[in-house]
Amino acid sequence: MSRSDLRALPEPPTRPGNGHLQDWALKPLPLIEAGAQAARAAGRDVFRLRLGLPAVVGFSPAWNRRLLTDLRTFVSAGSFSRVVPYLSGGVILSDAPGHAGRRQLMNPGFGKTHLAALQARTRAALPPVPDGDFDALAWADRTVLALLNAAYFSGEFDAGLLHAFLAPLRRPFPVPALPRPLLFLRVEAEVRRLGHRRLVEGGDDLLAVLAPLPGGFEEVRVSLAAAHDTTTHALAYALWFLARYPQWHTPEHHAAVLKEVLRLYPPGWMGSRRLNRDVDWNGVRLPHGALALYSPYLSGRDPELWERPDTFDPARWHAKPPAWAYLPFGGGERLCLGMHLAQMLIHDVLGALPPLQAIRGDDTPQPGITLGPRGPLVVRRH
Ligand code: HEM
Repeated sequence: MSRSDLRALPEPPTRPGNGHLQDWALKPLPLIEAGAQAARAAGRDVFRLRLGLPAVVGFSPAWNRRLLTDLRTFVSAGSFSRVVPYLSGGVILSDAPGHAGRRQLMNPGFGKTHLAALQARTRAALPPVPDGDFDALAWADRTVLALLNAAYFSGEFDAGLLHAFLAPLRRPFPVPALPRPLLFLRVEAEVRRLGHRRLVEGGDDLLAVLAPLPGGFEEVRVSLAAAHDTTTHALAYALWFLARYPQWHTPEHHAAVLKEVLRLYPPGWMGSRRLNRDVDWNGVRLPHGALALYSPYLSGRDPELWERPDTFDPARWHAKPPAWAYLPFGGGERLCLGMHLAQMLIHDVLGALPPLQAIRGDDTPQPGITLGPRGPLVVRRH
């Protein structure tokens, strides 16, 4: 039996009149860090936020595990993805019991075996590394766009349209949440045009895998939106840290570098669900309808889970992290569909990189829909 309601939970400092809304919009990382600190001080693993509706953020392995495995209680309908047209659809918004079947249809195309068949094509699409100084963030952006075009469409999608489609996602709120009916129609028409060709002629790119599935064209659009900024930001940080710490720039160290980058700067810094029934969490009643959040960012930097949590140290990956503490790709049934794809693309880029030197940059993490470096990140090719 729950002994108390949400008000019993610790919270970060509020502002008169708007609770946490202003800080949530303007500087959410300090806000959630203060929340986690307040929770730890109170011996708890969750804190509450006042965002106009009741919200609870948790960061312990136990919370992550519960939220990510109890799909009937922690649902996606009504979560933050709903307010972003880019992410509002397809597998991202489907819930139990339909979600598992949808994933089963999509997973093979994004599995390692099928991706290996695409690898020659994505490698061939890798843009050259510029001579002299260049901004690793801008280059990662262009590179990921070209690689995704190769993986999804064999490079046949209008590159200008793909860029125009994905660019608003990067902008601060509310830009990504604005409806863009004309742009979406143009993208859908291009997906349909190429998709129908795949249905007739076959093919082995991701479009060919998704086109025959129910709602397949929508899955293409939604998963592209989920793929682009996440992969770009992870790649940009990886490049930057390889330039700053060139001793790690060897093929055998790249896996640990990428893991460490994703621990410190998980592009999916906050995952959201809604509660579709009351939940008792350590004696507190979390109400039906509340937002329930988990944060790969907070869990990846929790001093109770990691030694020297704020230090970039790929050597820590000699040992396994605690279960449910490291979640850059989420977990459970909703584990990122593109995890293997993102890792394959990033590793191919890192493997092809010449030695780099960090010149100047601002790698402060900036949270938007995804978390990325403020930039620019100027590096020099040796
Ligand atoms: C480094 C790159 C990436 C990161 C860090 C990342 C992170 C994540 C995370 C944390 C989730 C879980 C969200 C949640 O629990 O609410 C997720 C889900 C998802 N990701 Fe990724 N992602 C990346 C790349 C990609 C790529 C390349 C694709 C392309 C297919 C993709 C497609 C998706 C989809 C469709 C989901 C929803 C899965 C579901 O709900 O069943 N992601 N991703």
